[in-house]
Amino acid sequence: MKLLSLFSTLLCATTAVAGNSPHKRNVFNKAKPVLERRVANEPFRHPEIQKRASSFFATNKTAPFSVNGTGIPEVNFDVGESYAGLLPISDDPAETRKLFFWFFPSTQAKVQEEVVIWLNGGPGCSSLSGLLTENGPFTWESGTVAPVQNPYSWTNLTNMLWIEQPIGVGYTQGTPNITNEVELAAEFRGFYKSFVDLFGLYNWKTYITGESYAGYYVPYIADGFIQANDTKYFNLAGISINDPIIGDETVQQQVVMLPYVEFWQNLLYLNESFMETIRAHDKECGYTDYYNKYFTFPAPQGPIPVLPDPYNSENYTCDQFDNFYAAILQVNPCFNIYHITETCPHPFSQLGIVNTGDYQPPGAQVYFNRTDVQEALHAVVGTNWMQCTDVNVFGNGNDSSRASDASVGPANNGVLQRVIEYTNNTIVGSGDLDMLLSTNGTLFAIQNMTWNGAQGLNEYPSTLLYAPDHPEYNGGALAGSGYQGVWTKERGLTFYTARLAGHELPGYTPGVAYRMLEILLGRVEDFSSTESFTTQSGNYTGNGTIYKRGVVEMENLL
Ligand SMILES: *[C@@H]1O[C@H](CO)[C@@H](O)[C@H](O)[C@H]1NC(C)=O
Ligand SMILES: *[C@@H]1O[C@H](CO)[C@@H](O)[C@H](O)[C@H]1NC(C)=O
Ligand SMILES: *[C@@H]1O[C@H](CO)[C@@H](O)[C@H](O)[C@H]1NC(C)=O
Ligand SMILES: *[C@@H]1O[C@H](CO)[C@@H](O)[C@H](O)[C@H]1NC(C)=O
Ligand SMILES: *[C@@H]1O[C@H](CO)[C@@H](O)[C@H](O)[C@H]1NC(C)=O
Ligand SMILES: *[C@@H]1O[C@H](CO)[C@@H](O)[C@H](O)[C@H]1NC(C)=O
Ligand SMILES: *[C@@H]1O[C@H](CO)[C@@H](O)[C@H](O)[C@H]1NC(C)=O
Ligand SMILES: *[C@@H]1O[C@H](CO)[C@@H](O)[C@H](O)[C@H]1NC(C)=O
Ligand SMILES: *[C@@H]1O[C@H](CO)[C@@H](O)[C@H](O)[C@H]1NC(C)=O
Ligand SMILES: *[C@@H]1O[C@H](CO)[C@@H](O)[C@H](O)[C@H]1NC(C)=O
Ligand SMILES: *[C@@H]1O[C@H](CO)[C@@H](O)[C@H](O)[C@H]1NC(C)=O
Ligand SMILES: *[C@@H]1O[C@H](CO)[C@@H](O)[C@H](O)[C@H]1NC(C)=O
Repeated sequence: MKLLSLFSTLLCATTAVAGNSPHKRNVFNKAKPVLERRVANEPFRHPEIQKRASSFFATNKTAPFSVNGTGIPEVNFDVGESYAGLLPISDDPAETRKLFFWFFPSTQAKVQEEVVIWLNGGPGCSSLSGLLTENGPFTWESGTVAPVQNPYSWTNLTNMLWIEQPIGVGYTQGTPNITNEVELAAEFRGFYKSFVDLFGLYNWKTYITGESYAGYYVPYIADGFIQANDTKYFNLAGISINDPIIGDETVQQQVVMLPYVEFWQNLLYLNESFMETIRAHDKECGYTDYYNKYFTFPAPQGPIPVLPDPYNSENYTCDQFDNFYAAILQVNPCFNIYHITETCPHPFSQLGIVNTGDYQPPGAQVYFNRTDVQEALHAVVGTNWMQCTDVNVFGNGNDSSRASDASVGPANNGVLQRVIEYTNNTIVGSGDLDMLLSTNGTLFAIQNMTWNGAQGLNEYPSTLLYAPDHPEYNGGALAGSGYQGVWTKERGLTFYTARLAGHELPGYTPGVAYRMLEILLGRVEDFSSTESFTTQSGNYTGNGTIYKRGVVEMENLL
């Protein structure tokens, strides 16, 4: 989630203005579409999670990692078979550094010989945040009172492995000393070899997925798999990243900012004199011309030149990102840069604070920092678990893969190119409500990348993306369906958007993310397909409440 700590300073400067107006009344006696309870006579019952009589994965060796599916704190249903714990990052018996994993075999009846890895970003953020709020078998979203079963869990489709990495993150053990992404990938391979040996998953296909700063991790680790030339352990079959940093920060986070704000101005409500000033800055800084000249489809021919990094001077006129962010927080003190439609109040998150200024009620506990949770997951009890660690995971410096030349991310230095060309199965996604790493910023970075013989995408993505309807029997975990975004595919690279998703795309649009995984795994042709989810044999016929979309009923006058 977290990308750069410099955002923090801005957040703490703002205070919410307490309103003294009475609760607003809906004086217009208007009917509004709501989610109606259709069958309310029976309480919601969780469908049985399928269990294999004797699991492929349950052996004497894996027994110490086995997690009691009915013993997860606060989770009042059986999460099924899973394994968690620490494994070393090399097979040297003297190795003491360990990464943490939580592995869920798929609930599919047949064992598929494949593993999908999920990674959150940071650098320094835990992938367990993805499990808990994006794609895990149970989710506990911000502002909700208890975890719920996730009907869109990726474990429905495949064997899922959430990994905390690199050393320094979450429950991992040891002192960080890597300095770049190539070393990170080597550390990761050491761990993954331990994992494959533990469960005996030799030659299984491996897909690597992730978000945000994992826009660096995933391509570098995938490239590390390719370079290892050892498909017994590192059998790369495809990758997927959403809302990723993959290229130049000035392109991804500055140049696209004014057009982004202009597009959303009816939501952001920045005053016109401020807008005039900042439009003038955009011209002075060369962003307006640069955007018009280079953000084109087809892509410009040849490398796109680099603009100065506005953080490298004492003059912040060209720091459009922070200037907009500060101004928007004046208007909406609860503005969420990861999901721009949020307003006050701040919802409480079980994951704790990420940026300074995030809200946490006094006495609140962080889920993975609880002793009972740590015991249940075979973590070292007493670990001070933070969603994003305050330890520098790149030893004493920065990630030199990025710091050496900000403009050369994996999209522009050959790393992502090699992964696309090796797999022809690379999917990049973006939530349109994400302002931290916006859709057009990611596309801009792609327009400066060459793969499979040509540069960039020829056409701006415009084919409608379809997410199937799924019976919504669980009011705690709903997903939109129908046309939810756009997509395109050129030369082995698929790009898609989810209109109503923020930065954490699978959390906001679980149906779109689930369909993405079906495509990555080769179960569905592409995002235009209107066929049902592959795991859905028909409409839900069990007991419990079905939430039906688009039903109109009278709204109460609150
Ligand atoms: C697994 O452990 C059990 C009990 O300790 C033992 O009886 C059995 O032989 C072991 N199985 C293997 C394959 O080592
Ligand atoms: C799993 O946890 C439940 C709830 O705490 C407990 O009743 C049960 O005995 C545990 N099962 C095992 C095998 O430890
Ligand atoms: C990190 O430390 C380990 C030993 O603890 C050493 O083997 C390794 O070479 C170090 N890596 C770097 C990049 O310094
Ligand atoms: C990859 O490994 C195989 C055998 O494992 C070997 O024959 C081949 O030369 C290797 N290729 C490269 C590029 O290292
Ligand atoms: C993204 O780029 C497209 C194509 O130029 C444009 O139509 C759209 O308005 C842009 N969206 C935002 C949010 O800037
Ligand atoms: C575009 O890619 C080239 C490498 O092909 C790189 O040298 C250049 O810095 C990149 N420009 C930007 C703005 O990322
Ligand atoms: C800051 O940079 C802007 C844009 O390049 C420039 O117009 C302005 O004069 C600079 N201000 C100072 C105080 O140097
Ligand atoms: C985790 O719990 C310990 C006490 O067990 C506490 O000192 C620490 O502040 C907690 N960390 C977070 C991130 O809440
Ligand atoms: C990937 O697709 C390109 C066409 O875009 C094709 O030329 C190439 O052979 C394919 N590579 C693999 C490894 O399938
Ligand atoms: C996932 O599996 C559960 C049963 O375990 C099922 O109820 C649900 O419909 C499945 N989700 C999807 C999106 O197919
Ligand atoms: C599910 O129900 C809808 C509406 O009743 C119907 O149109 C659709 O064909 C059903 N789907 C399946 C797979 O049975
Ligand atoms: C619904 O629940 C009742 C009892 O609660 C049970 O008799 C019936 O078989 C259930 N129907 C389905 C489709 O699960």
